[in-house]
Amino acid sequence: MTVSTDVPPKNICGDRSVEMEEDGEYQRQLAVFVHSCTEKGIELVKIGELIAGLPQRRSFLDIGAGGGDLTLPISSSFEATTVVEPNSLQAHRLQRRCPGFRVVNDRWDRVALGAERFDFILCSHVLYYIPEGAWLSTIEKMHTHLESGGCVAIVIQSPMGEVAEFFSRFTRYDVNILGLWGDLIRKYGDEAVEVRYFVNEIYTESLDDMVSIGLFLLIDRNFRSHEDEIRKYFEECHKTPGGYRLRQDDILLVIRK
Ligand SMILES: C[S@@+](CC[C@H](N)C(=O)[O-])C[C@H]1O[C@@H](n2cnc3c(N)ncnc32)[C@H](O)[C@@H]1O
Repeated sequence: MTVSTDVPPKNICGDRSVEMEEDGEYQRQLAVFVHSCTEKGIELVKIGELIAGLPQRRSFLDIGAGGGDLTLPISSSFEATTVVEPNSLQAHRLQRRCPGFRVVNDRWDRVALGAERFDFILCSHVLYYIPEGAWLSTIEKMHTHLESGGCVAIVIQSPMGEVAEFFSRFTRYDVNILGLWGDLIRKYGDEAVEVRYFVNEIYTESLDDMVSIGLFLLIDRNFRSHEDEIRKYFEECHKTPGGYRLRQDDILLVIRK
């Protein structure tokens, strides 16, 4: 079954804009996703290994912090935390919850942080919202704000695996990870760039929850018009005796300074 759609691929931006879900539905989908997957736990373990190797842990910058599921636990390892988040509802929610954080409610490319430097910069599942042609300059800006001895951690979904197959049924997911990796090595040297891989297992008891997660992963609300096909796809391809299981392969790109 292949469904052709007018909606954009997951490396969404290209030159087209994405119609995000309204906040209430986005928060609901995000909560179902976080509740049903092991990713944040595994991601925190991998990030913990990086943080343990830092020569100092004074300042942490989280770019595109979203609901703060990673920001909050990671912040406990640092003296100061700065968040850049363009979604004003998410930014204000995070600021209310963590008054000690400095929250900048803007896009990364528009933020001016002067000569400020951070020991650890995280950018997890954000690159999809940025045109692929701007990825290198986006990462270069992060590198500029990195303390000597610090590291940037970028998490992005792999173009291989079950979630990528799910994408290819309904849209495209054609991020050029190898190209990005090569560009980073050419720019910073192979000693400075490292790639790690981890697998997030998404498990739900109900088909409704797996469909919500599918829509959350696809990001664009226009996919709602394909809800029946998405439901059928999970029923056919991801049903297990106890529920529904989908594996998401993630890539962690590390750049050290
Ligand atoms: C899928 S969420 C990831 C949240 C969190 N980092 C995590 O991994 O759980 C993507 C977040 O990136 C933010 N975002 C989108 N475009 C951005 C940009 N240009 N600069 C910074 N953040 C951006 C969105 O508002 C959203 O909160």
